Amino acid sequence: MRIHQARLNKTSIATAALALLALGLLYGLGACEKSPQGPVPSLAKVYADYFPIGAAVDPQTLVSQRDLILSQVNSFTAENDMKWENIHPRPGNDPSSYDFTAADTIVNFAMSHGIRVRGHNFVWYQQVPSWVFVDGRSPATRAEVLERMKEHIDTLLAHFKGKVYCWDVVNEALSDDPSETWRTNSPWYYYAGADTGHYGMPDYVELAFADARAADPSVKLFYNDYNIESGAKFQHALDLVRRLKAKGLIDGVGIQGHWSIYWPDADTVRNAIDSFAALGVQVQITELDLSVFRYGDLSTLQAPSPDLLQLQAEAYGRLFKVFRDEAKAGKLTGVTFWGIADDHTWLDDFPVAGRKDWPLLFDVQHRPKPAFWAVAKW
Ligand code: XIL
Repeated sequence: MRIHQARLNKTSIATAALALLALGLLYGLGACEKSPQGPVPSLAKVYADYFPIGAAVDPQTLVSQRDLILSQVNSFTAENDMKWENIHPRPGNDPSSYDFTAADTIVNFAMSHGIRVRGHNFVWYQQVPSWVFVDGRSPATRAEVLERMKEHIDTLLAHFKGKVYCWDVVNEALSDDPSETWRTNSPWYYYAGADTGHYGMPDYVELAFADARAADPSVKLFYNDYNIESGAKFQHALDLVRRLKAKGLIDGVGIQGHWSIYWPDADTVRNAIDSFAALGVQVQITELDLSVFRYGDLSTLQAPSPDLLQLQAEAYGRLFKVFRDEAKAGKLTGVTFWGIADDHTWLDDFPVAGRKDWPLLFDVQHRPKPAFWAVAKW
């Protein structure tokens, strides 16, 4: 009897060891990475019934963050490579005026892995070359600027036809100053900011949407901006979307979501999503990151404290509860992070140059942070 029992024990130990080995192999094969909290689930899978999970990428991060990107996201935005200065650096509208190399790398990577792509962006006051606004030694005319804008939009829509499902047609056209509606420190506003067509908006805004709609009616057209979830800018954004919608020229609004662990509160975000959705457009969170600093804070840190990481987890958790609710109600159709892990974030240089920040769900070594778990498990 004793001997029998000993044999049994040996068998069960061997079976358990085999099972452990198999489990280990499974994780090792990339079904999911391990962490002290257990296997790391894929957010894209966890959120499959809610919305695509996106990340801003570039050809470098597709290499340096490849495993995380492939396991976690199913939507891409080019962090910089579809912006005018990158994709259309030289004057004119010949093939030689454009440089599609980096953008095509991103789009081809996406297509070969079943990842969708948001286009970002056609018309923005930043990262646009000065040649767009000059004619020889003179300033360009309004007509020249609008013609270049149309050629640019037409060329990009043709190039990415069937590969990019939506575009941020106009980015950040609204003012931060509550006493005015439109951003005036924009060359687009300077050259084509009048409302000659009585559209209730600068000509360049209306015409960018009209050009895009005419060039490819199958692409979804978005207005994208920051701080449009509250205050005067929120009201101005609602007005803009309402007017464009009345003309059939807009399909969605992108709330960027460059926020912090202190702000905004979840109800503000819920109210904004509800209000935009009530206008009959899609709503997406397009550039989400939660800084561990208050906006103007000039202090620096070597590393985020456990307390800050905990606050960040709570803030992400509250926001994703809103996102899930809104998605279930048919009001939110995408959430894109502005990056994926803290080793690559634009906030290391904005708004304070050289101030390291930790705004994303994975740390600098690509390990899940408390914020990841708050988003992945509820
Ligand atoms: C940022 C990029 O992340 C940086 O690499 C670049 O230097 C500046 O632009 N709003 C937008 C994004 O719409 O395009 C910006 O991206 C961040 C703010």
